[in-house]
Amino acid sequence: MAEDLVIRGFRIEDYDRVMELWARCGLPLKPLGRDSREGIAAQTGLANVRFLVAEEAATGRLAGTILATHDGRKGWINRLSVEASLRRRGIGARLVRAAEDWLGSQGLGILACLIEEGNDASMAVFQALGYKKHPEIVYFAKRRFPGV
Ligand SMILES: CC(C)(COP(=O)(O)OP(=O)(O)OC[C@H]1O[C@@H](n2cnc3c(N)ncnc32)[C@H](O)[C@@H]1OP(=O)(O)O)[C@@H](O)C(=O)NCCC(=O)NCCS
Repeated sequence: MAEDLVIRGFRIEDYDRVMELWARCGLPLKPLGRDSREGIAAQTGLANVRFLVAEEAATGRLAGTILATHDGRKGWINRLSVEASLRRRGIGARLVRAAEDWLGSQGLGILACLIEEGNDASMAVFQALGYKKHPEIVYFAKRRFPGV
């Protein structure tokens, strides 16, 4: 499979099909907020963001995505997604490793992700890659605008 897949940086021309993939994958979308075209374009222009897409080499078909970010202190893995028909072939794990490589190159020693309760596939991927679950931590968020 390795030679059949290309992992490269997101380009704004990818935007529509990435949104379609995320919707098919059931990821919560904020099309008027941080997932808007302008929002994604702005994020990908930042030095602390690396947005990767995986494509089938032969067809150019979008296979998956991952968005790595950091705040200078901790690395965050967001928006891991793999097209349903291509799952359980190691693509998700390869995307996480690619994100980890980049976060490592930026000097980050701790990597983290937020996973919704019940998302067993995602938890299994991260657990298989050495991530530990922290049930003692509860996520709090404040939205400064609706839909952000
Ligand atoms: C989570 C997701 C990205 C995994 O992608 P994937 O390419 O199928 O994952 P991989 O093939 O790399 O899996 C690596 C390992 O994780 C574990 N794993 C992956 N999916 C699993 C599942 N459904 N059930 C149990 N274990 C699973 C296995 O140990 C697997 O290795 P194996 O196939 O050799 O047994 C994919 O299921 C997906 O896109 N889900 C919808 C979007 C989503 O929930 N994203 C995460 C948001 S936090």
